[in-house]
Formats: sequence, structure tokens, C-alpha cells
Amino acid sequence: MKIKSAEFVVSNSEVEKCPKNNLPEYAFIGRSNVGKSSLINMLTDRKSLAKTSGRPGKTQLINHFIINEDWYLVDLPGYGYARVSKSSKQKFQKFITNYFEQRQQLVSAFVLVDVRHKPQPIDLEFMQYLGESEIPFGIIFTKADKLKPKAIERQVDEYCKELLKFWEELPPYFITSSSKSIGKDDVLEFIATTNEE
Ligand code: GTP
Ligand code: MG
Repeated sequence: MKIKSAEFVVSNSEVEKCPKNNLPEYAFIGRSNVGKSSLINMLTDRKSLAKTSGRPGKTQLINHFIINEDWYLVDLPGYGYARVSKSSKQKFQKFITNYFEQRQQLVSAFVLVDVRHKPQPIDLEFMQYLGESEIPFGIIFTKADKLKPKAIERQVDEYCKELLKFWEELPPYFITSSSKSIGKDDVLEFIATTNEE
């Protein structure tokens, strides 16, 4: 799929205020600093469409970007950022779960995990939550530029083994690097096919 246009639309903390039209959308979720905003920039070939930072906790709101005037990419805040207070953690959880539970036009979520890390309970639990809520999702392994191909293969195999302990089948998954522009076509192709259904 070719990205002809990509524009920021709106940021907010309430799902009720998200765009009202029924265009299909795809949302990026995962731990703080895993590379959600960077991935959106990579997919759209725009350097700073979504704001990124070396410090975790950069994205704080639900951000809608309209692509080809036809569908949305949604950048979400990260979970599991230790330095936020307990009450802001709870607030975060509420608006994120509201988003996932109320957003009918969400075609698929993408759960991002750092390819260097072993499966983390917080990510596995979030995937479990999506599964129980019947929200389709794919997994995106990020920062593939940080490992050699053999090591990536090992990490992904190990992750899949862990998933198969409690899932009957694997979700679609993608290996990406935003700094080296790896995996872009695979993710866009997945979006193009699910968008047409
Ligand atoms: P929050 O909004 O805080 O939840 O973070 P995020 O998941 O949106 O992460 P963001 O895209 O802001 O990136 C976090 C840091 O990781 C930045 O320093 C990025 O430059 C870096 N980063 C993101 N993607 C990659 C990648 O593919 N490779 C490498 N090497 N670094 C990356
Ligand atoms: Mg971000």
C-alpha cells in the first residue's frame, strides 16, 4: 500500500471525543519506549508525525492520524511506565480500556514488544485481555536493528513458544526496525488486506 497522505487529526483522553466517522482504524499499544510513535513515523515515511522521545512516557493521549483520507492510525500511550503515580496509572488504564472496549471501528490492535526482551507478564496479560475482549491484534517486534538475524530468530521463536502455552494459534506477527525501516511493507500489507474485508 502506498501512503499518499498522513495527517494528525486530534489528541484526547476520552474515547467519546475520538473522530466520529466510521473509518477503519489500527491502534499501537505496548510498553512505554517500545517504539510505537517511531513505528507510526516509519510506516508513514514522515519523520515527526508522531512525537517520539528517548524518555518513556512521551505519548500521553489517544492520537488519531488520518492516512490517505481513508483510515486512521492511532498512537496510544505506553503502559508499564514505573515513574507515573498510581492514580495516573489507574486513569490511564481506564481510558485505554474504554478505548479498546468502545471503539467499534478498530479493525486491529498491534501490541509492540522489544525484540531483545523475553516475554514480559505485562505484555502477555495485555494480549490475554485483548483476546478475552475479542479484539483482533497482531504482535510487532520492534528495534530489530539491535540484534543480528540469528538472535532475532531465537527471540521470536522463544516468544512464540511462550504464546503457544496459552493460545491455540499464534497471532500475526511482524519484525520491524523504525531506524532501519525494516518490516514496513509487511505491516502495511496486513493493514491493506484487513481494511478491505
Ligand atoms: P511512549 O510514547 O513513551 O510510550 O514511547 P513509544 O513507544 O512511542 O516510543 P518512541 O517511538 O517514542 O521511541 C522510544 C525510543 O526508542 C526513542 O529513543 C526512539 O528513537 C527509540 N526507537 C524507536 N524505534 C526504534 C528502532 O526501531 N530502533 C532503535 N534502535 N531505536 C528505536
Ligand atoms: Mg509514543
